[in-house]
Amino acid sequence: MAELLRKLWKEKDGRRMAEYIVIVLIIAFAGIIIVSGCGDDSKDAIDCTCSTLAEVAEQTGFWIGAAIADPEGDLEQKTIGVHFNSVTAENAMKWGSLAPSVGQYDFQEADALVDFADERGVRIRGHVLVWRNQQPADLEAEVLGADDPEARLRAILAEHIEAVAGRYSGQVDTWDVVNEPMEQYGIQIDNNLFYQYLGEEYIDESFSLARAADPQARLFLNEYFYVHNPTDERVVAFHALVKRLLERGVPIDGVGIQGHFWGILGVDELPARTAFEEMLRSFTELGLEVEITEMDVSRNYFPHAEDPFAEQAQVYADVFAACRAVPDCIGVTTWGMSDINTWLDRNEPFSNYAPHHPLLLDTNLQPKPAYYAVCEVLLGCR
Ligand code: XIL
Repeated sequence: MAELLRKLWKEKDGRRMAEYIVIVLIIAFAGIIIVSGCGDDSKDAIDCTCSTLAEVAEQTGFWIGAAIADPEGDLEQKTIGVHFNSVTAENAMKWGSLAPSVGQYDFQEADALVDFADERGVRIRGHVLVWRNQQPADLEAEVLGADDPEARLRAILAEHIEAVAGRYSGQVDTWDVVNEPMEQYGIQIDNNLFYQYLGEEYIDESFSLARAADPQARLFLNEYFYVHNPTDERVVAFHALVKRLLERGVPIDGVGIQGHFWGILGVDELPARTAFEEMLRSFTELGLEVEITEMDVSRNYFPHAEDPFAEQAQVYADVFAACRAVPDCIGVTTWGMSDINTWLDRNEPFSNYAPHHPLLLDTNLQPKPAYYAVCEVLLGCR
């Protein structure tokens, strides 16, 4: 090219030389643009196509779960393994479902659910070994009527955890060992039957029993919050409890954050992405895993919105993005599969404000904006 330039210069054909230089510059510039991917800002290089949530979750090493009720049910059949790679029994593994009366176990429903999850190749989160609600109808009477109520309760607790965690050992991946240790609204430990007789150490004891019954299972403490911020007093109190457990050597592997956004009680706030992330981090900094275990977002949060489902999608995106930003946040479970069936429409006081449409699939089982928002977050596109 130098030779050509010299020749042109010699011939004093300045105009042709200028044209030539311009053409060369254009070709070089175009080449740079093509090589650098059209001014690409790396997002264009990612494939943002959402196949199904379960597939995307598998690709990205994440648990996307749903609470399920009936393994024979239409919803379960159509969604589990397709949209979700993890399941939680909505009620079947609760103490009162397994044993309507103390010691009288019927595992049929829970077994069917475990078999169903195994067939679909999805993970099982066990929910829940010890909780103040949904207990055997006669648990309290049985304890109060005993000569030594404390000893009786301790024996019943051990029998229950051994029976259930032992039975599903190797099948249940993670157990919510204790659910809702905090009182309903305040910052104290809930004054339930276990606490009254065994003190806070009922939590320690439950975790130790669960570890002994199923050494492989990951053991979680599950709780709900109205404000998802590390400085919120309820979060602070719960965090202090978790620290105490760790200091006492309790075998706890993780913390479950329920993530119900009811939008009707006037006590809960929608999460801010950064505060939510900081809150999750405050637990992983203790060496624990975290999961959002029961998420739903009522459309009642957005009564005046032009597009409530776009707003709802943003809340889901914020929670998933917060979780993704924290390496030991390993999954999110929605409390139900589709808007066809949600506990919020069934349970007082929430049912007074039905329909909530709080989930990722609509009443026709079609993906909602929230579904795509979550998918985009998992793919790194949002
Ligand atoms: C709910 C179920 O979804 C309902 O079907 C049942 O009537 C009551 O319990 N926090 C929990 C879950 O930890 O176990 C609850 O599940 C919802 C709130």
